[in-house]
Amino acid sequence: MRWYVLGFPVMVVRMAATWRRLCIESGLAVTRRSKNVVLGGDLLVSGSELRPVVPRLGVPQPTPTGLRVRIRMQPGQTPAAFLAAADAMTHAWQAHAVRIVSPGRGWVLATATASDPLIGGGLGVVPRPARLLSAMVGRTEDGALWVLDFRVVPHWLVVGATRSGKSTLIASLVFALAPQPVALVGIDCKGGMELSLFEPRLSALARDRGEAAALLGAVLAETEARMATCREVGARSIWDLPEMLRPVPLVVLVDEVAELYLSDGSREGKQLSGACSTALLRIGQLGAALGVHLVVAGQRVGSELGPGVTALRAQLGGRICHRVNDEQTALMVLGDLSPEAVAVAQTISEDERGVAVTTVGGSWVRARSTHTTAEQARQTAVQFAKNTPELPGLVHAITEIREAA
Ligand SMILES: Nc1ncnc2c1ncn2[C@@H]1O[C@H](COP(=O)(O)OP(=O)(O)OP(=O)(O)O)[C@@H](O)[C@H]1O
Ligand SMILES: [Mg+2]
Repeated sequence: MRWYVLGFPVMVVRMAATWRRLCIESGLAVTRRSKNVVLGGDLLVSGSELRPVVPRLGVPQPTPTGLRVRIRMQPGQTPAAFLAAADAMTHAWQAHAVRIVSPGRGWVLATATASDPLIGGGLGVVPRPARLLSAMVGRTEDGALWVLDFRVVPHWLVVGATRSGKSTLIASLVFALAPQPVALVGIDCKGGMELSLFEPRLSALARDRGEAAALLGAVLAETEARMATCREVGARSIWDLPEMLRPVPLVVLVDEVAELYLSDGSREGKQLSGACSTALLRIGQLGAALGVHLVVAGQRVGSELGPGVTALRAQLGGRICHRVNDEQTALMVLGDLSPEAVAVAQTISEDERGVAVTTVGGSWVRARSTHTTAEQARQTAVQFAKNTPELPGLVHAITEIREAA
């Protein structure tokens, strides 16, 4: 309310007052020659003078967190010049951030956020969505809910330096999916430190690489069995199957993918990481239509982990980049999306835990996950333990390995 009554009009006045100078100083003005120029009272000078013409600013529309305004470009201008001037606009309008997009020919849309909506505590209790396989995990910079929808984007890559918020995001995801008829499967090779909190709601949990290889093998077998069922009935995905035959959707959560790929050099180690890598990649390739989804979290996802990682990354269409230590990592996660997203990801500071740059549609947004505490996670898992689908094939694969050890 305060924003609409006070903040918005003040920002509009600021925009109007600074627009011309801002355009001239940041190279957004074009120069036109005018034939006759009137100077002062009635003194007429003929000849030509260079006159800066600035792009036209539309009528600003308030949004819950800031405002939106259309800017009509002058002939010959391109959106790139406006992208470059976004910082100048941020300063001139005293906004938290200004983003420029170019939805149509001849004009750009500037979206200003008044203050950082991601500062402060988490969202608290997240409203639970009605749509199957869609999870609200936090909120985005423009004040909207941050939703991961696996029916739209089947697989996700979550990257960030240590303590940047990866596991907390996974916790929010489990929190949102736990009430739904969805099987959750965990792979946490740090001995299950993070994911064992959710064990009552997990259909299976692998705690080391041996177990992970066996579990991923079983998930792949399940995926292939689903494919066979679909083929038999002529369905293109599990969603086309009659309800009686439709298997439960399955989300595989991998916390710290490097543990799967990095080999200790031993033959057995190499074999295991090879098996994990192949299975993950196959699941990524086949899973989308078969209701088998991947969420892969890691500090780094470069080729130093092995050639399989690059191929896997290509399958993980959804990207979430928390604070990273180097540009290279941000590039790997967001580089194929937009150079601006890469730059923004690198500005996430150490005290902005849970803040990330993520993909939405073909675009990107800054967002912050809900702070789901260990205790909340544990309680949710217990509360919805009765919803845990039984997948004996997966459990069996792990117990076999455990007994053999
Ligand atoms: N959305 C959030 N809001 C507030 N605090 C958060 C948020 N996300 C994470 N944190 C804080 O940051 C800490 C580290 O987060 P988390 O364990 O998720 O990081 P991580 O990326 O998994 O680290 P690691 O690589 O070491 O496993 C958490 O204990 C929590 O206190
Ligand atoms: Mg973690």
